[in-house]
Amino acid sequence: MHILITGGAGFIGSHVIRHFLATYPGYRVINLDSLTYAGNLNNLRDLESMPDYRFVKGDITDAEFLINLFSEYCFDGVIHLAAESHVDRSIADPTAFVKTNVLGTVNLLNAARSSWKGKYDGKRFYHISTDEVYGSLGKDGLFTEETPYDPHSPYSASKAASDHFVRAYHDTYGLPTVISNCSNNYGAYQFPEKLIPLFINNIRLGKPLPVYGKGENIRDWLWVVDHAQAIDVIFHRGKTGETYNIGGHNEWTNIDLIRLLCCIMDRKLGREAGESAKLITYVTDRAGHDLRYAIDSSKLQRELGWVPSITFEEGLEETVDWYLGNQEWLDNVTSGSYMHYYEEMYGSR
Ligand code: NAD
Ligand code: DAU
Repeated sequence: MHILITGGAGFIGSHVIRHFLATYPGYRVINLDSLTYAGNLNNLRDLESMPDYRFVKGDITDAEFLINLFSEYCFDGVIHLAAESHVDRSIADPTAFVKTNVLGTVNLLNAARSSWKGKYDGKRFYHISTDEVYGSLGKDGLFTEETPYDPHSPYSASKAASDHFVRAYHDTYGLPTVISNCSNNYGAYQFPEKLIPLFINNIRLGKPLPVYGKGENIRDWLWVVDHAQAIDVIFHRGKTGETYNIGGHNEWTNIDLIRLLCCIMDRKLGREAGESAKLITYVTDRAGHDLRYAIDSSKLQRELGWVPSITFEEGLEETVDWYLGNQEWLDNVTSGSYMHYYEEMYGSR
């Protein structure tokens, strides 16, 4: 099987590639990534020499490039993760999100459609999306696959638009698509602009921990390795044209999560209890900040038998250990020196 994985040099994509290569010997995996600030080939160093893995640098906003790539490789499946993924960046610059998340997804759909030419047997286009498309919950309730879309940030609006295009290509052209909408991921290799790695990095360096608003917003956290496992079962056994929600049944207010993280970091760094929590600093809230996300993943559990493998406490300990054991990785991505390396290696394209 030839699989195209887009965004494989990013956080979740690198875990998906590692999972597929370890689980399915004989699958050929092509990682297409334009290496934005969030794409880092150091996330995949251990896989580079594997004969069934190949990295291609390219941009999904380039329609002609994609058509050529599809005719070169004859992909059987696409797992599409490439995206601009950070809400705060989308508030600062929405246009980049429209280009990559909407136009880039449509370009990929067009390339798959023109390459497969209506012969869809054994083909699959899997679009990875987010729970943020459903908007914000009050105190009660969960997002199900039937919850109406109600995105609030430019990021979630762009992901919602891309989901609609994927469904439209299924309904209009019969493209064999499947979509999943997942809650907040955490784990190794996450760019330290997202809450957990940012705060781990700031705690180790003794920098302030900027908590938006009162820290009362709620997120449903899932270990990235469990997300990769869910992507595997949906890619292989999900029903064409369907949507599956993925979540950890693991809701935390930001401030409770941050306090737990501070305790773990104090212990791991041999600091006095309460030391890291002194870094907590309340700052102006994120514009349009969604109050609560929480996923009902019972369809995935019922139909495909997926459940998360570890508790949040276990996953968070493991995550902290990974970042403290890979401080060079953190220093490298926060200094941006890896970007200079890419410029030298690959030029601007
Ligand atoms: P990330 O920002 O870590 O990685 C995104 C990757 O896409 C990077 O390697 C980047 O270089 C690449 N990319 C960006 N623009 C590109 C373009 N124009 N062409 C080719 N490659 C491009 O993101 P992530 O957190 O790993 O998220 C991956 C996917 O999962 C996204 O679609 C995101 O919306 C979705 N998702 C993320 C989470 C989460 O908690 N992180 C949760 C649910 C869904
Ligand atoms: O729900 C899935 C989504 O989760 C994904 O689709 C996104 O790609 C991913 O970035 C994530 O979005 P969030 O906005 O929920 O994640 P983030 O880590 O940016 O923020 C988590 C919570 O922490 C949120 O309520 C905002 C808050 N926060 C975040 C940062 C970076 C702070 O209080 N301070 C911060 O500095």
